[in-house]
Amino acid sequence: PKLTVVTREGEESTIDVDDGLTVMEAIRDNGFDELLALCGGCCSCATCHILVDPAMADKLPAMSEDEDDLLESSDHRGETSRLSCQIPFTADLDGLKVTIAPED
Ligand code: FES
Repeated sequence: PKLTVVTREGEESTIDVDDGLTVMEAIRDNGFDELLALCGGCCSCATCHILVDPAMADKLPAMSEDEDDLLESSDHRGETSRLSCQIPFTADLDGLKVTIAPED
């Protein structure tokens, strides 16, 4: 499936993602180093914060309380904020577009 990533500078690129990766891994492994993902995906750092294109936001798996709490600590939380390490990228999310959230 394909994932479109918009950087903090507004640069948009579309990448092909292997099945079984999370959105965080897909972004990080494709060289977007502004997504720090410091905790490596265990839902404890919030540096993998993304804003999901509202068109597909309702297709994502529900967020856990931990994810919600961590996002609450961000100054840049938006309507469709998610932690990208908590989203497995599956075929039904093909075409998803996400923007890397501003740095906190
Ligand atoms: Fe740390 Fe997602 S990588 S919360």
